[in-house]
Amino acid sequence: MLNEERNRALTQIGPGAPMGAVLRRHWLPIGAVSEFDGKNVRPARVLGEDLVLYKDLSGDFGLIERQCPHRRADLANGFVEAHGLRCSYHGWHFSGQGRCLAMPYEDIAAPELAFRDKISIKAYPVRAHAGLLWAYMGDAPAPDVPNYEPFTWPHGFRQIVFAELPCNWAQCQENSIDPVHFEWAHANWSVRLRGETGPYSARHVKVAFEEFDHGLIYKRIREDTDEANDLWTVGRVALWPIGMFLGDHIEWRVPIDDTRTLSVTWYFQRMPQESEPFEQASVPHWYGPVKDENGAWITSHVMNQDFVAWAGQGAVADRSRERLGKSDEGILMMRRLLFKDIERVAKGEDPKAVVRGGGIIALPVVERERHTESRTRAEMLAHPLMRRNFLRYPYQAGQPETVRAALWAAAGVREADLSP
Ligand code: FES
Ligand SMILES: [Fe+2]
Repeated sequence: MLNEERNRALTQIGPGAPMGAVLRRHWLPIGAVSEFDGKNVRPARVLGEDLVLYKDLSGDFGLIERQCPHRRADLANGFVEAHGLRCSYHGWHFSGQGRCLAMPYEDIAAPELAFRDKISIKAYPVRAHAGLLWAYMGDAPAPDVPNYEPFTWPHGFRQIVFAELPCNWAQCQENSIDPVHFEWAHANWSVRLRGETGPYSARHVKVAFEEFDHGLIYKRIREDTDEANDLWTVGRVALWPIGMFLGDHIEWRVPIDDTRTLSVTWYFQRMPQESEPFEQASVPHWYGPVKDENGAWITSHVMNQDFVAWAGQGAVADRSRERLGKSDEGILMMRRLLFKDIERVAKGEDPKAVVRGGGIIALPVVERERHTESRTRAEMLAHPLMRRNFLRYPYQAGQPETVRAALWAAAGVREADLSP
């Protein structure tokens, strides 16, 4: 339980909010490089700030304030130059560092005033990494963009999946340290959604939580597994501060503002031996719907089931009215560490998991060999989980046909290979 004041401290992330200051000390994935194959500019609301994300004619990305400082035109309607973005209303031109590079009429009419030197715009650095676009909205010097080990795995078909959720980021992230929900929100609820009343999943009999440099690990034993199982010996990862890592994918809950969250997933699928060496020229991205055409929540896929749970907690979960049990010990650890981060940042220190001068970040991986070992196409098609993953994107509804076709082409898989 958190009183209302502590709940606000945990959840609010706008400019000036203590937790906002913590998240601003991390690089956050806010988009996909492939979004800019067909466009140059789009609006981006991140941590309660209205911004525009663009790719200029040199191929550099920028993230600047959305309203033009001249007369507040929307820079999402701007156009890119060799360097930076130009407002389409009167042509004021801004660099990716926020300098005003040109004011076409003022530069002619009153060059002696050097008006443009007096104007700047809020600007944040953007980096492309692993097909994602990362933004850093905190004080300099920026840390490293995290290079998680799965980003370096070879021969993978990757895709990036987004969804917009009408609730606060923290309740989404608390799900990253919640082992018991798998049994209910996924396994058993899926049974009921199919119209059946059983059999239900094996029950959790023991859970444990541990801290490590890049987050928290949870471990579980169910009635059907024991202490020798990967889920106990390796565990799964709540990736600090807004992610979850589950072997073949990382999910981030990126705050749009205090009551909306962008779910960002980076998914890796190992290609068969016959496709090696496999280099993916561009990582495709797509937005998954969260509701169907009748306005009902989609519940067919794992992450959609999570989304329903999170949104159902309210725009901002009222933690003054929750009743936590033994299963929630990881959630208490997560909150404690986040509050500690607030204190560290207030003292001018780096929060947990900020990387400076580091290399590849190794993470605990359940069934690592499934992602890193070479297998023939026939072996993959004979593996139930790998076969399922070819058949459909497992985590979220709405994968476009073009992405599935690209996956099948990359793997040399045909429809007939997957028919029962
Ligand atoms: S409003 Fe942007 S240049 Fe005038
Ligand atoms: Fe889940």
